[in-house]
Amino acid sequence: MMKGALTDISKAVGNTPIVRLNRVTAGLPVEIYVKCEYLNPGGSHKDRLAANLLRRAEEGPLKPGGTIVEATSGNTGASLALLAALRGYKCVFVMPDKMSQEKISHLRAFGARVVVCPTAVEPEDPRSYYQVALRLARETPNSFYANQYHNPANPEAHYLSTGPEIWRQTGGEFEVFCAGMGTGGTLSGTGKFLREKNPNIKIVGVDPVGSLYYDFVKTGRVTKPFSYKVEGIGEDFFPTTMDLKILDDVVRVDDKECFLMTRELTRLEGLFVGGSGGAAVSGAVRYARGMAERGVDQAGDRPARILVFLADAGHKYVSKIFNDDWMRENGFLEDSPGLGTVRDVLAGRGARPLVTARPSATLREVIAQMKATEISQVPIVEGGKLRGIVAEVDLLRALVSGGKTFESPIAEVIEDDYATVTPNTKIELLKTVLADAKVAIVEDAGEVLGIVTKIDLIDFLARSAQKPAAPPAA
Ligand SMILES: Cc1ncc(COP(=O)(O)O)c(C=O)c1O
Repeated sequence: MMKGALTDISKAVGNTPIVRLNRVTAGLPVEIYVKCEYLNPGGSHKDRLAANLLRRAEEGPLKPGGTIVEATSGNTGASLALLAALRGYKCVFVMPDKMSQEKISHLRAFGARVVVCPTAVEPEDPRSYYQVALRLARETPNSFYANQYHNPANPEAHYLSTGPEIWRQTGGEFEVFCAGMGTGGTLSGTGKFLREKNPNIKIVGVDPVGSLYYDFVKTGRVTKPFSYKVEGIGEDFFPTTMDLKILDDVVRVDDKECFLMTRELTRLEGLFVGGSGGAAVSGAVRYARGMAERGVDQAGDRPARILVFLADAGHKYVSKIFNDDWMRENGFLEDSPGLGTVRDVLAGRGARPLVTARPSATLREVIAQMKATEISQVPIVEGGKLRGIVAEVDLLRALVSGGKTFESPIAEVIEDDYATVTPNTKIELLKTVLADAKVAIVEDAGEVLGIVTKIDLIDFLARSAQKPAAPPAA
């Protein structure tokens, strides 16, 4: 064996560098450092997961020459394919169709079979990528379903590898660990390890607008998920690999800020990362601003430090995030405003005070409030936090067939039939949100700013259609 060489490429997984951000953090009182997991040989942190999944599988179900089946947004597949190439397994990967062509080609380059399924179906739908993967695993002889969403070997990988490595590299000299929320393997496993070392470390998840996690952590409610473009983070169901109790907070980000930050990380910091890396840093910057507001931006005589997880590399997104045409078509560049944003809807309908009720209010009080203000749905808010909504139809149902009286607390009839959006959510997206959910509640940094109904959107679109077209550019 040659001196200094590794016995094979799998030994190069891990020991990724931690780097300070210098330019995208200008003006922040908090220091932000990034863990460059995108430099792993398979292109992401999923190399650690794949190694641990196979280690566990080889202890039991996975036999030599067997087939690995997995539902993957691309990275887990890439890491499994790399190890499978070394160890002589076959691979079948099932992916949702929103994933970039580069990810599909990458898997095929390793000889994997790739099956593409529709994104816009419920997870229980037999066409969804979760269900197709399950079926293929059942039908393929001598196969092993990696099942990253429910396999305890996923968080275990990060508990055994990422967490100890970060501790060794940093000596624990940081206050916050921040990562995107996908299967939860990263946050649950790394978070558990870091917490055991220092119970005061804050574990912060970053979730895209449209995913279920943020609302569930903030309100305990399962709201209407809707689609978004950033890949690898956010979910429309709850994987058992995500331990939400480990989290101190969740920060929500939208596609545009994720992608603009991804481009800045590359152009200003030299970090060629994917969209979830931009999301994680954008979320960390938001969290850092909150720390400054709460006066916790110092740790003794130095600035507080946030360590952010950069999951995957940018080359898989050159036809998307790093392509101006794609960015413009999707309204993510400043010179492509599209139909506008939720902020424009709120502004366009004029000053309208936000009417809310507390969960302890009675049905009688809420009905009186709705009559006096001529509104048909009320957000229920407690201590500034959203708890859900109540609409006329819910009140009627509760009184007629739900066994409630006028003196029952409104908390007993709160409904989940809403989606939450931010002021920056694009109208194009709001249209799909309101096709499914009764109303959209507008929130920013946990504060409820307004409620947008279907008729608000119709009014806005009608007003936009009447506006004279802008004169052609000179
Ligand atoms: C690009 C990317 N970022 C972040 C994540 C989230 O990591 P985890 O599944 O460990 O929560 C994933 C997971 O698929 C991913 O592919």
